[in-house]
Amino acid sequence: MVSHVATVAFLGLEARAVEVQVQIAPGMPKFLVVGLPDKAVGESRERVHAALSAIGLALPPKRITVNLSPADLPKEGSHYDLPIALGLLGAMGVIDAETLASYVVVGELGLDGRVAPAPGVLLAALHASERDLGLICPAAQGPEAAWAGNIEVLAAPDLLSLIGHFKGGAPLAPPQPGIADAPVILADLKQVKGQETAKRALEIAAAGGHNLLMSGPPGAGKSLMAACLPGILPDLTPAEALGIM
Ligand SMILES: Nc1ncnc2c1ncn2[C@@H]1O[C@H](COP(=O)(O)OP(=O)(O)OP(=O)(O)O)[C@@H](O)[C@H]1O
Ligand SMILES: [Mg+2]
Repeated sequence: MVSHVATVAFLGLEARAVEVQVQIAPGMPKFLVVGLPDKAVGESRERVHAALSAIGLALPPKRITVNLSPADLPKEGSHYDLPIALGLLGAMGVIDAETLASYVVVGELGLDGRVAPAPGVLLAALHASERDLGLICPAAQGPEAAWAGNIEVLAAPDLLSLIGHFKGGAPLAPPQPGIADAPVILADLKQVKGQETAKRALEIAAAGGHNLLMSGPPGAGKSLMAACLPGILPDLTPAEALGIM
């Protein structure tokens, strides 16, 4: 049978849809990856093989073909490990293949079955939210993926926990959006002596998102007050933070 798992290829800051198709067919035991894989993707065969045997699953002694579609789009990176492994588990009947179809999957696999971080998880999450799909990603990147907003994120530490989730035994908790440390603000408005009108103009500009033109003699404190502005600006909304990323 053939199972299908959605993933992405990164082209600069754009995520393109890629489908991982896995077929297990009778024939000489073989494990092929086709669809313009680069070296890292080609080597994912070895990682997937090792990760599955680490959790006690042997690949069936059949002809296994993995196609990364569209076949003419070059595939780079190590984030195809997890979709290939889940496609295999779907084709082997370990995980329900239809359930898998509602997720975009990215993540690198360790030889012991751990899911390791791979770049581009936020892009993949935004892509998944555009397609109304959930996202399966490495546990360490769950807080990053959760920024994409209203999508189901399964942040898995290892293959076994994903199988546990899909079998209903041990559901994975949804990750919370991660918060970066607050930036160090060097100047504070309370350092500014006097200049009440200018300070008020600064506050109105910050609160309302208005532009501001400062004019005055050298040494009047224009640069100082401009440096105070970040300290009184409201926090960015998630959408704004992603917009200026
Ligand atoms: N109202 C004020 N309260 C506290 N410090 C001030 C005030 N006005 C100016 N200063 C101090 O005076 C120095 C010169 O100010 P600043 O560089 O902000 O002036 P400026 O208006 O940007 O000048 P320029 O037009 O030459 O760029 C800075 O060290 C600043 O901290
Ligand atoms: Mg200045």
